[in-house]
Amino acid sequence: MAVTGTGLQKGQRLRVPHREHPGTAGFTAVKPRTMKVIRTVAGMRQLRRRLAGTVGFVPTMGYLHEGHLSLVKRAREENASVVVSIFVNPTQFGPCEDFRQYPRDTERDLALLKEAGTDVVFMPPDQEMYPPAFSTWVEVDGLTRRLEGASRPNHFRGVTTVVTKLFNIVRPTRAYFGQKDAQQAAVITRMAADLNMDLDVVVCPTVREPDGLAMSSRNTYLSPEQHRAALVLYRSLKLAEERWASGERDPERIRTEMRHLIEQEPLAEIDYVSVADPATLEELDTVSPSALVSLAVRFGKTRLIDNVVLGP
Ligand code: PAJ
Repeated sequence: MAVTGTGLQKGQRLRVPHREHPGTAGFTAVKPRTMKVIRTVAGMRQLRRRLAGTVGFVPTMGYLHEGHLSLVKRAREENASVVVSIFVNPTQFGPCEDFRQYPRDTERDLALLKEAGTDVVFMPPDQEMYPPAFSTWVEVDGLTRRLEGASRPNHFRGVTTVVTKLFNIVRPTRAYFGQKDAQQAAVITRMAADLNMDLDVVVCPTVREPDGLAMSSRNTYLSPEQHRAALVLYRSLKLAEERWASGERDPERIRTEMRHLIEQEPLAEIDYVSVADPATLEELDTVSPSALVSLAVRFGKTRLIDNVVLGP
C-alpha cells in the first residue's frame, strides 16, 4: 500500500506535543500523551486483550479532516479507550475508481489523532487484511442496491466485509460513523443488527466547511472553480429543507427543484437526487419527517455525495 511512511515501527509510540491554542504561537509541550500505532492484526488483538472498560472505534481511510475528528472526539467522550483504524480498503473501490490516487498523509493523520486523544491507531497492511486465499464476503442485501450501490456495484460489499473484519479484530463496544455517508451508516446499522454484532453503531452529524461543503478527503481533488461550483450541493439540500418547512410533501417536486438548481451550475453533473426512507432507502411517494434527502454529483472526475435528514 502506497502510504507515506512515518518511520514508526510496529507498536512504537508517537509523541506529539499537545496543541494548547490552535492557530496561536505554535505547539506547547503540555502533558504529552502516548498513542500506540499498531501495524499487525496479531498486535492489535494482543493490545485489545489488555484494554479494560469500553472501547470506542472509528474506522477511517485516513487523510483526516474535522469530520473524522468529530467521530474521534465523540468516541473519546463516551469510552475508556479510543481505537482508530486507517486502512484504504481496496475492495470497496471499483476498477475505474481512485484507489491508487486516494490521498494519504500518515504522519499528519497520526499527529491529528494524537491531539484528538486517540489511544490506539490500527494500520494493517493490505496483505494482512486480504491474504491471497481470501474468499469470504459479508453482504447486506436490498438497501445496498440503491443510491450509491446502483452507481458503485460491489462498493458496499467491500465496506461491510472490511468493517466486519475490523470489528472482529478491535472488538469495540461502540463504533462511530458519519451521517455524511448516510447509506453506509444505514448499511452498517442493518448489518450489525442482522448479524447480532455485540456493539452499538453510533451515527454522528455531518461536519461542513464554513461555506457549507461537507468535509471529505476527496474535496482535495477539487480545483478552486470546482469547489465553488460544489457549493450548489448544500444549496440544493437547503432548498429541500425550505420546501419541506413550507409544507411541500410531494417528493418528486422537491427532487425536480433540486435538479433544476444543480443544473444551473455548468460544472456539475448529477448522478442522483433522492428523497428516501432513511432506513430502507426506498424512494418515497409522500415526504415524511426524517426523510433522507441525498445526492451524488460529479465535478470533473470527482464524485461528491451529501445529504440532509428532514426535521420533524
Ligand atoms: P472515510 O471516508 O475515511 O470515513 C471515515 C468515517 O468518517 C465515516 O464514518 C464517514 O462517514 C465519516 N466522515 C467523513 N466525512 C465526514 C464529515 N464531513 N462529517 C462527519 N463524518 C464524516 O467511510 C469510510 O472511510 C470507509 O468506507 C470505512 C468505513 C473506513 C470502511 O473502509
